[in-house]
Amino acid sequence: MDASSRNAAPPSPAALPAGPSSRATPMMEQYFEIKAANPNCLLFYRMGDFYELFFADAEIAARALGIALTKRGKHLGEDIPMCGVPVERADEYLHRLIALGHRVAVCEQLEDPAAARRRGAKSVVRRDVVRLVTPGTLTEESLLDSRRNNHLAAIARARASAAAADSVFALATADISTGDFRVIEGDAALLASEIARLDPGEVLVSDALYADPELAPFLRTLRQVTPLPRDVFDGATAERRLAQFFGVATIEAFGTFSRLEANAAAACVTYIDRTQLGRRPPLSPPARETSRTILQIDSATRANLELTRTLGGERKGSLLSAIDRTLTSAGSRLIAQRLSAPLTEPAAIARRLDALDWFMRNDEALAQTRAALAAAPDLARALARLALGRGGPRDLAAIRDGLSAAKALSTTLSGVADAPAEIAEALDALRGPDGDWVGELNAALADQLPPAKRDGGFVRAGFAHPLDEARALRDESRRVVAALQARYAEETGVRTLKIRHNNVLGYFVEVSAQHAGKLSASPGRDAFIHRQTLAGQVRFATTELAELEAKIASAADRALAIELEIFDRFAGLIADAAAAIRGTAGALAALDVAAALATLAIERAYVRPEIDASADFRIEGGRHPVVEQALLRDGGPFVANDCDLSPVDGGDAGRIWLVTGPNMAGKSTFLRQNALIAVLAQMGSFVPAKRARIGVLDRLFSRVGAADDLARGRSTFMVEMVETAAILNQAGPRSLVILDEIGRGTATFDGLSIAWAAIEHLHEANRCRALFATHFHELTALAKKLLRLHNATVRVKEWHGEVIFLHEVAPGAADRSYGVQVAKLAGLPESVVERAKLILAELEAEDRTSTARRLIDDLPLFAASAREPGPSPHKGDALIAALDALNPDEMSPREALEALYALKAKARG
Ligand SMILES: Nc1ncnc2c1ncn2[C@@H]1O[C@H](COP(=O)(O)OP(=O)(O)OP(=O)(O)O)[C@@H](O)[C@H]1O
Ligand SMILES: [Mg+2]
Repeated sequence: MDASSRNAAPPSPAALPAGPSSRATPMMEQYFEIKAANPNCLLFYRMGDFYELFFADAEIAARALGIALTKRGKHLGEDIPMCGVPVERADEYLHRLIALGHRVAVCEQLEDPAAARRRGAKSVVRRDVVRLVTPGTLTEESLLDSRRNNHLAAIARARASAAAADSVFALATADISTGDFRVIEGDAALLASEIARLDPGEVLVSDALYADPELAPFLRTLRQVTPLPRDVFDGATAERRLAQFFGVATIEAFGTFSRLEANAAAACVTYIDRTQLGRRPPLSPPARETSRTILQIDSATRANLELTRTLGGERKGSLLSAIDRTLTSAGSRLIAQRLSAPLTEPAAIARRLDALDWFMRNDEALAQTRAALAAAPDLARALARLALGRGGPRDLAAIRDGLSAAKALSTTLSGVADAPAEIAEALDALRGPDGDWVGELNAALADQLPPAKRDGGFVRAGFAHPLDEARALRDESRRVVAALQARYAEETGVRTLKIRHNNVLGYFVEVSAQHAGKLSASPGRDAFIHRQTLAGQVRFATTELAELEAKIASAADRALAIELEIFDRFAGLIADAAAAIRGTAGALAALDVAAALATLAIERAYVRPEIDASADFRIEGGRHPVVEQALLRDGGPFVANDCDLSPVDGGDAGRIWLVTGPNMAGKSTFLRQNALIAVLAQMGSFVPAKRARIGVLDRLFSRVGAADDLARGRSTFMVEMVETAAILNQAGPRSLVILDEIGRGTATFDGLSIAWAAIEHLHEANRCRALFATHFHELTALAKKLLRLHNATVRVKEWHGEVIFLHEVAPGAADRSYGVQVAKLAGLPESVVERAKLILAELEAEDRTSTARRLIDDLPLFAASAREPGPSPHKGDALIAALDALNPDEMSPREALEALYALKAKARG
């Protein structure tokens, strides 16, 4: 999606022409009324087999969808622009409109047109909007990515004062297609990192928040922001609205929520109620999360580490795609969730690792589980569609197959010994809902199922006697039609006579024009009544045919009604069992993830990380999970490397590794692999290393110099500095910081100075574990002064003037970058390479390193206390110095007065 459509502006409401007028037709009157009740939406107005759009809606949709704009009748003397989409292809068009940021109100016919006609020739078919389609409230398979959640988010804010820093936010997120519902409270940084993690399809805010200039830049970065009137975010009614939605007396049953959390959660459910027009998706009660239990990763870090998407926005090439061996859509969504939200509690992480470990030790259970999962469809999404009245026969089948697969798996694994907690819990939930309707459902559904229920044909013959009867009658009548055709052909002598059917005429007799005379003149003349003459054909009706038609129609209607009744009965049973089905779906997903990660660990020789509450970070033989797999495909080996950021000698502050080395040596790869190993470990996966011991991280930061954000109006260097500032201000003793070539987007000395000061700050003030890659080789001299700074370099060999990359990280410092050699490898013209070599030689003669050495020795070390911004202007410094020099005890009154004058003069400048 391009930047312009990712903005926060509400989709432009398609303006109505100047109100209904006395000259509008009754149908147009109805249209105006419905349209007025649904402003800000494109109105899909059902007319027979089409959804039609009128006026400005039609113009917007025709342009967006590339479909023909036509006209229909006149309004106030002007043509009414119109376009339409066929009902059976509506999903596809909806998808495109939603992706462009539009909202769509779907207006259906609520009665049979025949019923309207019976009321009188002028009466209009009853219609109303049955649903608002918005990006955050989708459930259709065709509108969703099966491997990703689609979150609807609501942000509520409370301010202690006017200062932005005092704001507290609550974020509620619901995925109505799966039932997940969560709420969390925290500061602006938490809000941003949570939104980056969940990547909601739609974000709800109050009108007031939407208009707040402080939040505008942030809101602009989101996919779709929907401002809502104040009542949706009304704190006073929030708890009541939540309780009502879940049908409980009070929400205390779900835990203790702060006012702000209840407010955000209530905004979500109110919006769901309004867009689903009262139909309720099977949402789980809101789960309260806290920032302390999740590793915080801000959006720049997520993007930079390519956790779930590459910088180019694709899944392929991301860490997620490298580790995802799940077999079900629900498993795929869960592994993405876990990867996006690694844990911070060693016990909770161990619980997941135990499950994985168990699968690795029980290969039979692993194989059986994977085999059963392969047959398990998406229970959660089928359930949501059925509960919202949007389900089809295939959703019934999905529930049947999912529950059967789960039950079979629970039987298979029932005998297992020593199952760890996560597995045991999952096995328990696999048993599914009580009642034997699953077996009955199996007996009810036909082998081949149509996608929609509206035409019937999904109930198996033999399941319901009345249905079989109605169908027999219907089919029998069809045979009678065939016999009738043969008889008519015989009687009239027209061999090519056909009996056909369409929606306008019903059944009719059709012959080619040349034979029409024979029918008009046939003996039982009144039997053939002329109905229509086309270019080559003439059509007739007969009384016999009309009678037959009525019989067929009523039998078919009855059959359909019985089928729909059966459908509704099962849908009702399923909705009643929603909580248990959701439990089963969750258990299948959890088993899928554990089994998938075990499969990955076996396949790629990952090990179980040791996780505790220490400040250690010791990786032996670590590998980059994504680069390793990419190299494997190209046949190259990945060189494993160690990393140790543990505190020195029992201290509590982590170490910083300053990584130098030539271009292309593998610095960036090394930095990222350590961050990715930490993420994998804390999400509960084994890791690509020989051994890994990690004291849990609470925050992870990763920055690369030079990345544009021109869309947000920041230059390359500005982005780099804003992000670096965020790290230096936020990183604490439990954080891991990855800084890759910070300071390279500016003049050499500016960059060097910034990198230098940043390292000192990390060492003295943040005291975190950090990896810092740089081409400023002078910085390596800092290790002399900073106790916990360790120099590491990625080794290369020089051979006959060529560089050979070893990709080995070793203690020590690089003295050169071989940039010119790498440029040569890249194919820079020979003349440029030669000239560069000459210039380099000249420059190196002026050795800048010696200056740096001198500075390291002379400059006083960075003082952590200087973090508090003091009265910094030079004039202030001079005044303070002058004051300091005075000694009042030894001054005469006159000297004191003179000193006072002198100070005043100084202050004036
Ligand atoms: N440990 C390794 N084993 C094998 N190949 C590696 C290893 N590390 C890096 N490589 C290969 O080397 C390439 C360059 O690595 P990387 O981008 O990390 O270099 P760099 O030192 O950051 O270079 P620059 O200074 O130009 O940014 C990678 O794309 C990868 O193919
Ligand atoms: Mg690099």
